[in-house]
Amino acid sequence: MKIDGVAYRTIWVNQDGWSVHIIDQTKLPWAVDILRLTEVAHAAHGIRTMQARGAPLIGALAAYGLCLALRADASTDAMERDAALLAATRPTAVNLRWALERMLTRLRNTPTSERIAAAYAEAAAIADEDVAQNEAIGRHGVPLIEAAAARKGGGRVNVLTHCNAGWLATVDWGTALSPIYMASNAGLDVHVWVDETRPRNQGAALTAWELGKHGVPHTVVADNAGGHLMQHGEVDLAIVGADRVTRAGDVANKIGTYLKALAARDNGVPFWAAVPSSTIDWSVSDGVRDIPIEERNAAEVTDVTGRMADGSVATVRVTPLDSGAANPAFDVTPARLITGLVTERGRCEASVPGLMGLFPEQR
Ligand code: MRU
Repeated sequence: MKIDGVAYRTIWVNQDGWSVHIIDQTKLPWAVDILRLTEVAHAAHGIRTMQARGAPLIGALAAYGLCLALRADASTDAMERDAALLAATRPTAVNLRWALERMLTRLRNTPTSERIAAAYAEAAAIADEDVAQNEAIGRHGVPLIEAAAARKGGGRVNVLTHCNAGWLATVDWGTALSPIYMASNAGLDVHVWVDETRPRNQGAALTAWELGKHGVPHTVVADNAGGHLMQHGEVDLAIVGADRVTRAGDVANKIGTYLKALAARDNGVPFWAAVPSSTIDWSVSDGVRDIPIEERNAAEVTDVTGRMADGSVATVRVTPLDSGAANPAFDVTPARLITGLVTERGRCEASVPGLMGLFPEQR
């Protein structure tokens, strides 16, 4: 996608052929800072501190992180150790583990002398496939927006989304936002309700920024506004991304997604999750029981960061100094509350038969 007319991906290899660039998402929307990563420790730090975040993007960054690791030491012991270090950075999004497993499967059978080149080729394939899959998700998702327009007899379609599942969360296009970009490119009248997504405000800072850069009309709302908007007919469709989906269609996504799904069900609003197959954990059936939920630093809840009137960026405390805080970063929406899943192979019911219909090789 474009930033001020210039096409970007969220991750790319420098002209030197080996170092890795990412956009520092902790600085958005106030500054577009490009980081150059040269060591596996930089990649691990980037994932842990969310300089790069979003399930598909952390998979791609972990893959390139392993490339950087191999440049320092391509032995099998070091490779396994560094892959484990990268895998430990964040627990919920399965793309991280998926990408590292894919890298290791390719590299374990590759002679040490050829490992670095093979690793860069595999990481590039992971990144390119992510772009292609998200582009396909966009194509399969546009009919949802067209159907919402038809249901209301034409006019603007209001789509609610939670967190950031746009191009910043992937290598390009995004998942939940991909159908919105494609519909908008095709001339459909789409407006997005952007949940601010406390505590880290990925909606307010990232989704609003990238929609704005692409010229998509949008309005940021407090996370608690969604139910009210749905009750008053202001939401035609909800589309969210996912960090891990079970084979039965349960969806782990940013904390607060479950509450939006409950409100959508109560108000008859279609609630879809846009999911590349790299986000599906075929080994897990019960999301509430089996998906590990990341608990992040309480400071993300007690403090907020924003732009001051003089243009500087500052962090301020919003809770009493002696109040504790808890920060579960994700929740699980049971499949029964999800209207359906949009994948790169098409749309399906959020259920074992639905997913097996699209991915019969996982039976
Ligand atoms: O903690 P984050 O910002 O990495 O969480 C991201 C999300 O929850 C996204 O909705 C999800 O990864 C889907 S991204 C295409």
